[in-house]
Amino acid sequence: MNFPEPISRRQWLISGGASLAGLALSSRLLNFEAQAQMTPERLAAVAPVKARLSLNENPFGPSPAALAAMLANLSAGKACRYPYGEVNELIDLIAKKEGVAPENIVLSVGSGEILETVGGLFGRMKGEAIYASPGYLQLPSAVTANGGKVIPVPVNARQEHDLDAMAAQVVGASSVVYVANPNNPTGTVVDTAALAEFVKEVSKKAFVLLDEAYLDIADNYAGRTLVGLVHEERNLLVARTFSKIHGLAGMRIGYGVTSRKFAAQLRNGALGTLTSPSIAGAVASLQDTGFVAASRTKIVAEKAKLLALLRELGRPYAESQTNFVFFQTGRPHAEVHAAMFKESVSIARAFPPMNDWARISIGLPEENALARAALRKVLG
Ligand SMILES: Cc1ncc(COP(=O)(O)O)c(C=O)c1O
Repeated sequence: MNFPEPISRRQWLISGGASLAGLALSSRLLNFEAQAQMTPERLAAVAPVKARLSLNENPFGPSPAALAAMLANLSAGKACRYPYGEVNELIDLIAKKEGVAPENIVLSVGSGEILETVGGLFGRMKGEAIYASPGYLQLPSAVTANGGKVIPVPVNARQEHDLDAMAAQVVGASSVVYVANPNNPTGTVVDTAALAEFVKEVSKKAFVLLDEAYLDIADNYAGRTLVGLVHEERNLLVARTFSKIHGLAGMRIGYGVTSRKFAAQLRNGALGTLTSPSIAGAVASLQDTGFVAASRTKIVAEKAKLLALLRELGRPYAESQTNFVFFQTGRPHAEVHAAMFKESVSIARAFPPMNDWARISIGLPEENALARAALRKVLG
């Protein structure tokens, strides 16, 4: 697939994209869900509460080795130096982990930067984003913000992507098909074999962006990741992030794995200009073998307590393979949101059209205990 518009910074500016670029830059400062249009609900998501369970963060935090590396990086006076050498070390490590060449990797300021950039490209092509609804909106929003359109495809009864219905919506080369596996807010994964088949077929005519932000939290990560499908002739980018299982959301690091050609195009657009301490943290986190599994164990154990409570309260929930749970409260979202807030627990915004469902993230044990007590009070 040839994109009509190479996304060099110069072209962005010439084509009147300066204001767009400004938008993109400011939106990189915070997680998209937290900052996009500061509605009262979104402000509430970052308001001070005892348990902030609204943004799917991992408050267990980074690996101690990553924390030490970031502090050491600053103590060593690296703040005044461009991190060119370090960046190559990080790219090499990621390439080794993903089994691709360094040229297949594009770093980004959180994986959200990639979602926005790709969405922006298709928007400016007057293309369309096909995505699951409810779903994560960063890429679709960038498509509409830049003049394209969106085609939301309702999730199926299990609240998983409806792959057949999505494939049926593909228009052609102007389509970007966005699959977050696991999905946000439902937390569900799709069958790996079916998804692989979907990616192979759909990428023959459209571009597929497979978002694996939460996949390390799912069971059988190795059997589920489809990063192995990336190759030079396929219109596919797999997006990954250090924000979730690595506990580095505040450091803003993510990356894409894609064809060399598309990676180069994205890199040209000044993507992935990371800071020195964040690179140091990511390198140390990747080298801390065992950290991801340990972090996952803590999240899964805490999630089990929440699911047990929901079963006790008779509340249906989607099969979560993530650090958050989407469940049916049976009451208007605004009411539940406000009642939980009163108990000093923030939950996620509403995800229309599922207006009597709520998403709550897994926090620290004491935060989760507070949330369970609040849920008992509010829904019991
Ligand atoms: C599905 C999904 N993809 C991507 C992101 C972007 O995260 P980040 O920019 O921190 O990598 C998020 C954030 O919540 C998400 O839920």
